[in-house]
Amino acid sequence: MQVSMTVNGGEVSGDVEARTLLVHFIRENLHLTGTHVGCESGYCGACTVILDSKPVKSCSMLAVQAEGSSITTIEGLASNGELHPVQEGFWERHGLQCGFCTPGMIMSSVALLEENDNPSEAEIRHSIEGNLCRCTGYHNIVKAVEYAGAKVRGEEPPPPDWEEGS
Ligand code: FES
Ligand code: FES
Repeated sequence: MQVSMTVNGGEVSGDVEARTLLVHFIRENLHLTGTHVGCESGYCGACTVILDSKPVKSCSMLAVQAEGSSITTIEGLASNGELHPVQEGFWERHGLQCGFCTPGMIMSSVALLEENDNPSEAEIRHSIEGNLCRCTGYHNIVKAVEYAGAKVRGEEPPPPDWEEGS
């Protein structure tokens, strides 16, 4: 079957089987391997992409179901050599350890900040509850999203934990 969609701002199309998962189309047809495959059953969130402004687990839908949609993957976030504020936040606040969950965490966080650029800690934690980190780095991930929110709002990010009280 032929599928067509917009990925990271460009029109793409390809031949897939009816059973091809969206994540496999992204990784294997488009060679965008920043979107990770973990559980392939909708639990871990490693495969999260933004589809028509909503975070979706791309292992939980078929490529043909994304026909005509607009998708953003981790590769589509940086522009002109500048990291997206969420990517910068993960870098600046040590929001990753092994990095396996990171693309999905970042895409869920980008979707959150597009809806609400000043989320509470509870709202951040709620937005990433479908993303599992086996390194249990949730504290710094929350700090990374708080950093990114401040950048999006044009404010000075809060100081890192390791500078507080110093
Ligand atoms: S690989 Fe999609 S949720 Fe785990
Ligand atoms: S940083 Fe290792 S799984 Fe999250």
